Amino acid sequence: MTRVVATQTLPWGALDDLANRVELDVVSETGAPDPEVLRGRVAEAEGLLCLLTDRIDTALLDAAPALRVISTVSVGVDHIDVHTARARAIPVGHTPGVLAETTADLAFALLLAAARRVAEGDRLVRAGDWRPERVWAPDMLVGPDVHGATLGLIGLGAIARAVARRARGFGMRVIAWNRTPRAVEGVECHPFETVLEGSDFLSVHVARTAETTGLIAAAELARMPRHATLINTARGGIVDEDALAAALEAGHLAGAALDVFDEEPMAPDHPLLAAPGTTLTPHIGSASRATRGRMIALAIENLEAGLRGDPLPHAVTD
Ligand code: DGY
Repeated sequence: MTRVVATQTLPWGALDDLANRVELDVVSETGAPDPEVLRGRVAEAEGLLCLLTDRIDTALLDAAPALRVISTVSVGVDHIDVHTARARAIPVGHTPGVLAETTADLAFALLLAAARRVAEGDRLVRAGDWRPERVWAPDMLVGPDVHGATLGLIGLGAIARAVARRARGFGMRVIAWNRTPRAVEGVECHPFETVLEGSDFLSVHVARTAETTGLIAAAELARMPRHATLINTARGGIVDEDALAAALEAGHLAGAALDVFDEEPMAPDHPLLAAPGTTLTPHIGSASRATRGRMIALAIENLEAGLRGDPLPHAVTD
């Protein structure tokens, strides 16, 4: 029987059918496995089913000489050494498309929450700071309007386009930068700097690659208007987090709403935890029950296609 390693168990009995068709070794029942433990289990693996929390690097690939397919339950593949896998003719499958609308929902939720200071209001109420002498005040927790504001998109892939549709429904103007300009109804394409300088809200939607790591650092943040808010539901590391915390501390930016971080979970002394105007969530962009189910199903389809020697329905191409 074909031997498959799943790095961890998946919810809703998602691995049950697969376990009837292959010899399935589930490395961890309690979340992401220790990398060394994982390395010790892949010697005979022909298929590998992994998550974005697993580091599929050269050391892991060296330990898995029989590997014929890697399938990740994620659209992002920055945790996989795709270059080495390609050199070894191991196809890599991922899950594009199915999570675009759900992730756009979260990006827009973060935009609204940051603008209208929802998390801050919640913290104030829970801390007992909603006081009788200040039940309602004209300047209490005021923020910018969303309607009529300009949303800038960095990247114009499926998630960005889904965010643009939501923004237009809220009466926003939408401008965007994409590596290769593309025509999208209701979206004006501009150079990168123009989008930085002209956005009241700036939402990041590029994959993390060597080129996009640190794409938005101190110099880029300094170009943004002082009243602007940055939203990132793409990947940590695209925005320089120390520079962002410094910009918020200095009052250069009004806010940041982030779902992804360079290191996850972040260290307890991470500067963004103390920076003003932050709304932080734990990488939940695609976290609807239906979308997570579709991601898992697609990942299993990719895996089984690779094991059969067929082209993967959703292979990573570059
Ligand atoms: C992905 O699939 O890459 C997302 O970050 C998961 O939400």
